[in-house]
Amino acid sequence: MPKFEPLHDDFGARVTGVDLRPPLPEALRLEIRQAIDEYSFLCFPNQSFDDDGQLAFTRAFGEPEANHVKLGQDGEIHYFGTIGNVLDDGTTRGNADKRTKFQTGNNMWHSDSSFRETPSLVSIMCAHEVPEEGGQTEFVSTRAAYRRLPDALKATIDPLIAIHDYVFSRGKVAPDAVTPSHAASLPPVRQKLVRANPRTGARNYYVGSHAKSIVGWEEAPGRALLDDLLERATGAEHVYSHDWKSGDLVIWDNRCLLHRGSGYDADRYRRYMRQTRVQGAGPTLEE
Ligand SMILES: [Fe+2]
Repeated sequence: MPKFEPLHDDFGARVTGVDLRPPLPEALRLEIRQAIDEYSFLCFPNQSFDDDGQLAFTRAFGEPEANHVKLGQDGEIHYFGTIGNVLDDGTTRGNADKRTKFQTGNNMWHSDSSFRETPSLVSIMCAHEVPEEGGQTEFVSTRAAYRRLPDALKATIDPLIAIHDYVFSRGKVAPDAVTPSHAASLPPVRQKLVRANPRTGARNYYVGSHAKSIVGWEEAPGRALLDDLLERATGAEHVYSHDWKSGDLVIWDNRCLLHRGSGYDADRYRRYMRQTRVQGAGPTLEE
């Protein structure tokens, strides 16, 4: 029987007493699926997954999402992304490597794939090697943040639509961070600013580094609104900081959480975490 221990007042649970390796029993799959709607973040420590097992686990929750970098740059379908500095041949890249710098884009608050027309439902991360210091990932709940908003602001944002744009967000890292074919594969998309969980009805707002502007608003007030919503969500008291341990399998709900990476010393430490994502049910405008 899985045991759920809350990690933060707003969201999150540490789940023990289960072995998630395939085949995943249907009753356990359903329990995890419901727990995602309830807790938004689940950490299962001491799991033992290889890529095949992780992909099978991912498919248990929906259609895996093709990695947009491989798709946009090479036109190839790959389901895995590596978070960290360990290459396929086992060697590492250091702080000065261009790809290490590219990954610093993840250190801005964001929701994975919010720049895709059908954004991600959840991300699933298996931690294989983690640095001895640094490298935590911070999470906040925009469901809890929405609950805290004054009623007048809720009423203002409820009907709004935001533009999310990957080229815009990565432009903050470096002007040449996105290749031309990659950029062409990811045109700006419209997303509902306020979303509701389809099962529970719980509302949240959907912002982050990829959110560029508000449809029908001038740039400056749109930017001010998006920045204000982000600031309200990400105050230190609202943050859960996950300190990765090797063997962690973590699932987070991209519909209603924001997260950001923190730095680590890629010259000193190895970090190897494998990430898959499950596609959402469809464009947020159709929710
Ligand atoms: Fe991310």
